[in-house]
Amino acid sequence: MNNPKVIVALDFPGAKAAMQLVEKLDPSLCRLKVGKELFTRSGPSLVKDMVASGFDVFLDLKFHDIPNTVARACEAAAELGVWMVNVHSMGGIAMMQAARDVLSDDDAPLLIAVTLLTSSGEKELSDLGVSQSPAEFVKRLATMAKMAGLDGVVCSAQETSMLKKHCGEGFVLVTPGIRPESAAADDQNRIMTPKRAIEHGSDYLVIGRPVTQVDDPVAVLCEINAQI
Ligand code: C5P
Repeated sequence: MNNPKVIVALDFPGAKAAMQLVEKLDPSLCRLKVGKELFTRSGPSLVKDMVASGFDVFLDLKFHDIPNTVARACEAAAELGVWMVNVHSMGGIAMMQAARDVLSDDDAPLLIAVTLLTSSGEKELSDLGVSQSPAEFVKRLATMAKMAGLDGVVCSAQETSMLKKHCGEGFVLVTPGIRPESAAADDQNRIMTPKRAIEHGSDYLVIGRPVTQVDDPVAVLCEINAQI
């Protein structure tokens, strides 16, 4: 497989556990996502090791700060050789543009924005004084990301067909909350199977526990890859 669509979420407490899984995997089967917990414990050297092993790494640190700070952080991420990096769209258009400005080379990582976290819904939006529905708000944040020149967004698989129509085919959509038929839902609420998520327009599927917490992660990945 040349263009694996599954991004395995390495939600582990440290480098040892993460690398035990990574050593079983192959860059032709999946890409890898390093998030805040693992990065805070194990740092840039772990990311560099994964890149050196040939994996495409999505550094999921959701930068959200003043434009200058986010731009400098994006530069630092690019120096690690990662394939994809993200910022939080609620940081605003100027912040996203500052990130885009420093990641403008052809070989720069893909730059995407988180829209609304799937843990946030109507109640959280209402707490913020936002009267739009979650879907309307996601559309607004994705529009801002597109205006700022970003490559795409992280969103729920429920929103992909609407966003593909609204933002265009080339706008990359990355979706968590994916569960193969046979897997437990865990704490995810609005889930979709890998096949349906791709049919609805997801470009990349972020999958954690259904791959990381099983005896044979390679078998699960092969099965998912065959389905999509
Ligand atoms: O184990 P599971 O497949 O639920 O992991 C999903 C991954 O996607 C986790 O790393 C989680 O932090 C991430 N994520 C999510 N919902 C979002 C954004 C990221 O579940 N809206």
